[in-house]
Amino acid sequence: MLKRMNRLGPKAAVLVVVCLLLHGGGSGVAAKELCVDYYDHTCPNAYKIVQGVLVEAHKSDPRIFASLIRLHFHDCFVLGCDGSLLLNTFPGFESEKDAVPNNNSARRYDVVDAAKASLERACPGVVSCADILALAAEISVQLSGGPGWGVLLGRLDGRTSSKAQAENLPGPFDSLKNLTDKFSAVNLDVTDLVALSGAHTFGRAKCLFVTNRLYNFSGTNQPDPTLNPAYRAFLSARCPRNGDANSLRDLDPTTPNTFDKNYFTNLEANRGYLDSDQLLKSDPGALRTTAPIVDRFAGSQDAFFKSFALSMIKMGNILPITDPSRGEIRKHCAFVN
Ligand code: HEM
Ligand SMILES: *[C@@H]1O[C@H](CO)[C@@H](O)[C@H](O)[C@H]1NC(C)=O
Ligand SMILES: *[C@@H]1O[C@H](CO)[C@@H](O)[C@H](O)[C@H]1NC(C)=O
Ligand SMILES: *[C@@H]1O[C@H](CO)[C@@H](O)[C@H](O)[C@H]1NC(C)=O
Repeated sequence: MLKRMNRLGPKAAVLVVVCLLLHGGGSGVAAKELCVDYYDHTCPNAYKIVQGVLVEAHKSDPRIFASLIRLHFHDCFVLGCDGSLLLNTFPGFESEKDAVPNNNSARRYDVVDAAKASLERACPGVVSCADILALAAEISVQLSGGPGWGVLLGRLDGRTSSKAQAENLPGPFDSLKNLTDKFSAVNLDVTDLVALSGAHTFGRAKCLFVTNRLYNFSGTNQPDPTLNPAYRAFLSARCPRNGDANSLRDLDPTTPNTFDKNYFTNLEANRGYLDSDQLLKSDPGALRTTAPIVDRFAGSQDAFFKSFALSMIKMGNILPITDPSRGEIRKHCAFVN
């Protein structure tokens, strides 16, 4: 418990929700709210176990940390943070994995499975797959140089998945209004939208998401005018017009694997990769909404980290299942029990 608190700054500590206080020490008993010490008695090494699996996976995959936080995002935005993303297609349900935003894009489910297997060996039937994603997201950011947030735990795994809703995840060609609407539909405001987009400070994206900005923006046969000319030349060389659309580029070419504020300093210089990145700074509608927030984070890594921590807790609180009649602890993350 104390150890967990030490990972937090003094500001964030105010947020800590403790099961002991909420539920009179009934750790392991389903709680109504998520809390920081949920597994302290039932699986005290949960954080360390997941961390060990991630450190091992990182040895052969420098992109792993980025990929894992994205899984948590895509899980939480569809039916809440309930592990729904991780289910394989089964009779009566089409998996979220098969939806366009995830297919051939969301990756390393095998590392989640490896973390689950380790946890099952140490404390069988205790740690949910939804919580593994939340833990992996925090550990991934911390191991990449970013902040911790005292991840709240106690989610149960759901028994269903929604491919249809996953098709409607925030998309790289969405307008600012659409992005704002999709975030507010899950109780996230414009500050959350900007802070969480800051996760594009690491990881990769396919050329196909930027080729229209390079060669044919909005059907004009011209590049996106908000794209920095030197960055456009840089990207054009790496994503040629008739090149491999699935070829991968860094979302943040300055520090591709580090969690820092460079995503925002890139936006200030018109060096955002996705249209949905650059519009946070450059869209006419951003002037009084998201652009001042981008400016603030570009000017202060501390401000970004503090907001990011708060927004991750908010995102992790999207419709968690805490009622045991509605959820379970899956034995394997790809299947309901
Ligand atoms: C604001 C709306 C968002 C849009 C439109 C968006 C879109 C995308 C797209 C198109 C990719 C590239 C996928 C590919 O090439 O296969 C990507 C990658 C990524 N996204 Fe987002 N994203 C958004 C928000 C977020 C949020 C909230 C997070 C996490 C908090 C996040 C984390 C990431 C990471 C880390 C990657 C790189 C993944 C990897 O390398 O495996 N994104 N995103
Ligand atoms: C997912 O991508 C693979 C490979 O491109 C493709 O064969 C498959 O049809 C796609 N799945 C769905 C459900 O679209
Ligand atoms: C925005 O959302 C509306 C309503 O869902 C949809 O009709 C429209 O195509 C979307 N536009 C963009 C640019 O994302
Ligand atoms: C550019 O985009 C427009 C609209 O999507 C399309 O009609 C046109 O064929 C594209 N031009 C080229 C050269 O691909």
